[in-house]
Amino acid sequence: MKFSNIIPGLAVVGAATATQSLCNKYTQALFGSNTEANQQLLLHKLVNTAVIGNYSAGAMNAVPGILTPGTYNGEQVNLLQYFDGELASSNTGGKCGVAVNFLDGGGAAPLMKDKAANCNTCNQFFLLTHLYKFFGSLLGCSIFGNTVKPYNGVNGMYEVHKFMALDAAEVGYFIQQVGLAATSFGVSQTDAAAVGSALMNLFGYRCLPPASVPAFETPQLQSICTAVSCFSLWSSR
Ligand SMILES: *[C@@H]1O[C@H](CO)[C@@H](O)[C@H](O)[C@H]1NC(C)=O
Repeated sequence: MKFSNIIPGLAVVGAATATQSLCNKYTQALFGSNTEANQQLLLHKLVNTAVIGNYSAGAMNAVPGILTPGTYNGEQVNLLQYFDGELASSNTGGKCGVAVNFLDGGGAAPLMKDKAANCNTCNQFFLLTHLYKFFGSLLGCSIFGNTVKPYNGVNGMYEVHKFMALDAAEVGYFIQQVGLAATSFGVSQTDAAAVGSALMNLFGYRCLPPASVPAFETPQLQSICTAVSCFSLWSSR
């Protein structure tokens, strides 16, 4: 058995039931019809809400948002510094991290209009559109992401995040905001927890073996949690 076969994740959430993925199920439930445009809208609302916090009327719970400093398991977390260019933490292909501003496309303002950015060659557009495609694939959208090649992962998520040296609280906070964003639209606790588990299994442990994200991609290293506080599945710590 290949190591990558033991990583659940995509298959689990993408095929939540035999007939209906979470994407198809909630696109239908929230927007009345399971069209490509509605699937895309679901992804934009979900990701934008996870990033900046709840901004649509009628949120069923508050979402602080990934860019808002908070606490996770009692630990202070500030993920904004990885997005706004404060830290030299982005991998641009060199031997050390580089400061990149990923909020260069208008920041929160376009996100509040369900858009990615006010530009289409800026870092913010690149990041957000990748997130839409990734979550479209994770949640098993039947159309969105299938007409264009979904999520061309840049050598795996380990490479992308390695200079951030993210710890368990930081990764936990990120995953928690995704779950809160989902439930704020009426996604059930059970379904939101399945998404959280999939993200944890794909990215949340230290030293994970190569895995394909999405399933048809070449296996790559995917660990985003790399600090010593991150649990490893292969050792006691
Ligand atoms: C976010 O959701 C909470 C809970 O429903 C609500 O009290 C708050 O007003 C919302 N914030 C915005 C900006 O809509």
